[in-house]
Amino acid sequence: MLHLKKSIRYNLKDQPYGSEGTSAPLPKFKMPQEEMTAQDAYIGVHNELVLDGNASQNLATFVQTWEEPQVHKLMDECIIKNMIDKDEYPQTAALEERCVHMIADLWNSPEAANTLGTSTTGSSEAAMLGGLAMLWNWRAKMKAKGKPADKPNMVTGAVQVCWEKFARYWDIELRQIPMEKNQYTITPEKVLQYVDENTICVVPTLGLTFTLQYEPVEAIVKALDKLQAEKGLDIPVHVDGASGGFLAPFIEEQKNLVWDFRLPRVKSINASGHKFGLAPVGVGWVVWRDKADLPEGLIFNVNYLGGNMPTFNLNFSRPGGQIVAQYYDFIRLGKNGYSKIQNASSKTGRWLAKQIVDMGLFEMLYDGNGGIPGCTWRFKDGVKAGYSLYDLADRLRSRGWLVPAYSLPSNAQDIVVQRVLVKQNFTMDMASLLVDDIKRCIDYFDKHPVSKPLTEQEAGSFKHS
Ligand SMILES: Cc1ncc(COP(=O)(O)O)c(C=O)c1O
Repeated sequence: MLHLKKSIRYNLKDQPYGSEGTSAPLPKFKMPQEEMTAQDAYIGVHNELVLDGNASQNLATFVQTWEEPQVHKLMDECIIKNMIDKDEYPQTAALEERCVHMIADLWNSPEAANTLGTSTTGSSEAAMLGGLAMLWNWRAKMKAKGKPADKPNMVTGAVQVCWEKFARYWDIELRQIPMEKNQYTITPEKVLQYVDENTICVVPTLGLTFTLQYEPVEAIVKALDKLQAEKGLDIPVHVDGASGGFLAPFIEEQKNLVWDFRLPRVKSINASGHKFGLAPVGVGWVVWRDKADLPEGLIFNVNYLGGNMPTFNLNFSRPGGQIVAQYYDFIRLGKNGYSKIQNASSKTGRWLAKQIVDMGLFEMLYDGNGGIPGCTWRFKDGVKAGYSLYDLADRLRSRGWLVPAYSLPSNAQDIVVQRVLVKQNFTMDMASLLVDDIKRCIDYFDKHPVSKPLTEQEAGSFKHS
């Protein structure tokens, strides 16, 4: 009897609900005066997070939504390590350096063991560092020629918002070549119309955020080679390989694509470790073709951490775990492991595209071939569905699927598309369940027509920039 009472008391102590701490809404605007138990605080925060979407069904994000248990363990072990403390955590720094060399090698750097690169918090920071190096090199070139260097521009297609930020923050004219219906990537001909001697670089994207297609890096480089031969204009290229940097080297149909440091004009490349690099969110990479392509003036040496540490990141402190996890992924999977995963995802994307086309209502802007695993579709011309892709996205949410609908940038802003990104944990079986649910939604709308289709503004939950 005594024993039973004790155990009941013990269980009640561990039972979180009914306690004072979980009996009131959590503070929202002011830090509370008093502390609460760790358990109450945890339960409160944990339960609020249930309202987030289910990451496994998040087909909108490019970022990984599954990690191996060993990665979770390493992340836990590293949660207290600051990447910038390279003197204090020399082995974490060594793993970062190994990653840089492995990535440089993957991208066919002529001097992979010797070139410069760094981890970043994502592709945005990596892109800004790549862009800054281009700006500095261009300024030095103009100064050497005795020409003014106050009107820099850069030429891109429909870039991710990080490049718009870069251009605005550093006062560079962003010459974005607009999309046209049926021509969503930039072409070498168009690039030539936009460049001049104030162009600090051209940035093709290997994996457009809007459609998932690759831009034709090699053809653009060849056109710029010709321009240099004919007019003496030497314009460097930075490749935004946020997704493609970890896909093109592995996907069977893309292995022959020449897009990287095999092209001498490609001076720097960025990629997101946390996208198809398969690492957990919070890591990107930028690598320069040659040490000389990164101006020394951008590198700061600090001595207050002990040792003399070069740093050329925008942030000072940042987490070390993601970088350690990236190294783990590289040695755990090897090239064959990456190939298996990326090819499986690519196959699922192509299969999904075919199923969606077979429904009869949609046409593909991108059918999963030659770009990022996934697909992008729109209503076929002439289809009068009576509901919008925003309605379809909204209805799919009732089963937990997060499949964004959005309009394309100018000059294709009248085209509304829907896009799925296939990541490693979106298996063929899940794809088949999604297809069933899309069909179910279409059937639902046929039986229960919407009185007024949702607009982009009303849907409002997803927007690029
Ligand atoms: C082409 C491209 N560049 C840059 C970025 C920014 O990357 P991150 O989210 O790693 O900062 C993205 C993100 O989706 C992207 O698709």
